[in-house]
Amino acid sequence: MAAMDGESTPVEADRSGPRLEAGLGDITAEQVDAIVNAANSSLLGGGGVDGAIHRAAGPELLEYCRGLGGCAAGQAKITPGFGLTARWVIHTVGPVWHGGNQGEPDLLASCYRESLARAEEVGAESVAFPAISTGVYGYPTEPAAAIAVSTVRTTPTNVRLVRFLCFNAETFDAYQILLGSHEA
Ligand code: AR6
Repeated sequence: MAAMDGESTPVEADRSGPRLEAGLGDITAEQVDAIVNAANSSLLGGGGVDGAIHRAAGPELLEYCRGLGGCAAGQAKITPGFGLTARWVIHTVGPVWHGGNQGEPDLLASCYRESLARAEEVGAESVAFPAISTGVYGYPTEPAAAIAVSTVRTTPTNVRLVRFLCFNAETFDAYQILLGSHEA
């Protein structure tokens, strides 16, 4: 509804967007409502952050994932966190990097949007993301971080805190620059 002259603007729900932070460390130790897993389309575990999350959550997570029927690239599915501090794990499948002209940026953006959508569906207010696709899947760190930050900034969501959990200094630097918190 447009505000008319002499009237105050109607109060709307707060959709001002989440607080964005960068962190350095192991995502399995994060004290947030939901952590995101950079999985593969089988959802049956693997190396990298996927392996770490399955180890920390325990075998019940794999059992649960067996019933999900996999997940396409750019999509996301949610499970309980089992042995993790986080109550939920959001499993998303990033694109494999083939040089950047095979839809990789759109698929990577979709991972962040779909993960936020799953978080919102269960009422999760704080979410930690790893740097999806930048390990085994080969997506270059800086463009991947730019997509992560711009997608989260432009996706309407009730999630209040998004933390980008980085596993190495190069990734952490990229996020700090994008978030304007880098000390020169
Ligand atoms: N906490 C936070 N980040 C981590 C952790 C951790 N414990 N461990 C690794 N990273 P990757 P992808 C970072 O390879 O590229 C798996 O086998 C890592 O440094 O985990 O999306 C899946 O099953 C990198 O920055 O995921 C798939 O087959 C980022 O997490 C495939 O790898 C992502 O690296 C997915 O490849």
